[in-house]
Amino acid sequence: MTVTITNVMAISLDGMIGMHALESDSERRAYDFTNMDDREFVRGQLEQADAVITGANSLRASGSTWVVANDRGENPAWIVFTTRGLDERLEFWKQKNVRRIVVSPFPVQSELCAASDVENWTFTEKNLPELVDRLSAEGLRRILLFGGGAINKMFYENNLVDFAKITLCPLIIAGVKSPHFVDMGLTKPTHLQAISSVLKGDLVFLTYKVKK
Ligand SMILES: NC(=O)c1ccc[n+]([C@@H]2O[C@H](COP(=O)([O-])OP(=O)(O)OC[C@H]3O[C@@H](n4cnc5c(N)ncnc54)[C@H](OP(=O)(O)O)[C@@H]3O)[C@@H](O)[C@H]2O)c1
Repeated sequence: MTVTITNVMAISLDGMIGMHALESDSERRAYDFTNMDDREFVRGQLEQADAVITGANSLRASGSTWVVANDRGENPAWIVFTTRGLDERLEFWKQKNVRRIVVSPFPVQSELCAASDVENWTFTEKNLPELVDRLSAEGLRRILLFGGGAINKMFYENNLVDFAKITLCPLIIAGVKSPHFVDMGLTKPTHLQAISSVLKGDLVFLTYKVKK
């Protein structure tokens, strides 16, 4: 069975995903980056997903995962990439109703993981395709890639993204500490095919298929 990886992101007109690396979704809504329409859109994506991949900073910013049952009546698994590990005070460690997998280049926080029912898988950027194979083997095939920029870059660089669902938000950020939609440093351009666009209020919901 094939795995589908869909990158779901809200971006500013200048391609930023926030003001700074530890900004939460609710902070972004507070300054009208995103709004409740986008939140509902993301919720709808989660309802059709088996797993979500995100980066440590995104999790640090939110503190916990979304908890939204999918069309199989299960909460999507959350896969969090980190090299330094995650603060033990994060709500994440207590979310026993969500399958949580910490992916790191070497084992991290073994005792905390064991005590919290959190799995720790060891993969480096070089063997990301094997990570995707393992997700597939475990039945996690409808995967949302939630960023941020560092994690998106790894997946685009390895040609592992199939679709991008972008919410284009009507603001320009260009802050000195703004995280980019995709971190700098891709070795080649990624081309996408436009599938659809929907204007809702001030937001544009765009769907692209990645050309492979
Ligand atoms: N607008 C949106 O739709 C949207 C979506 C997602 C996120 N965001 C926002 O974007 C910001 C975070 O973005 P970001 O680009 O700074 O961070 P990020 O991609 O969420 O996380 C970066 C972290 O990923 C870990 N990492 C990087 N390479 C790795 C590797 N090879 N193996 C394992 N872990 C690796 C590192 O964790 P360590 O620090 O542990 O080394 C790194 O600091 C937050 O404010 C978040 O709310 C916005």
